Amino acid sequence: MNLSDLEEKYGTVGKIDGTEVAIYSRDNEIEVLENVCPHMGCQTAWNEAEQTWDCPCHGSRFAPTGKVIKGPATKPMKLLIHVIEDGELRLVE
Ligand code: FES
Repeated sequence: MNLSDLEEKYGTVGKIDGTEVAIYSRDNEIEVLENVCPHMGCQTAWNEAEQTWDCPCHGSRFAPTGKVIKGPATKPMKLLIHVIEDGELRLVE
C-alpha cells in the first residue's frame, strides 16, 4: 500500500499483500494492525470522532494501537510489523 493511499483521517482500512489491515497514521506515527476483531473475527471500522477502531458485530472498541477499550473482546488487535520503503508500506513476515 502506498502512503498516499492513507485517508485524510487518522484511520484507514485496506489490504496489504492479502492481509486486511487497520492503519493508524498521525504525524510521524504509524501503527499497522491486522483488521480482525479478536472476539469473533469481524473487521473493524475507524471511528474518527472517538479515535477508536469499532467492531460492528458485537460492539468491541479498540484504541489506535489495538488495545481493548470496550468488550466483549478481551484481547487486543494484533500489531503487525511493517516497513516503509520508497513510500510503500509493507508488512514484515
Ligand atoms: S467480533 Fe468484534 S465484537 Fe464480536
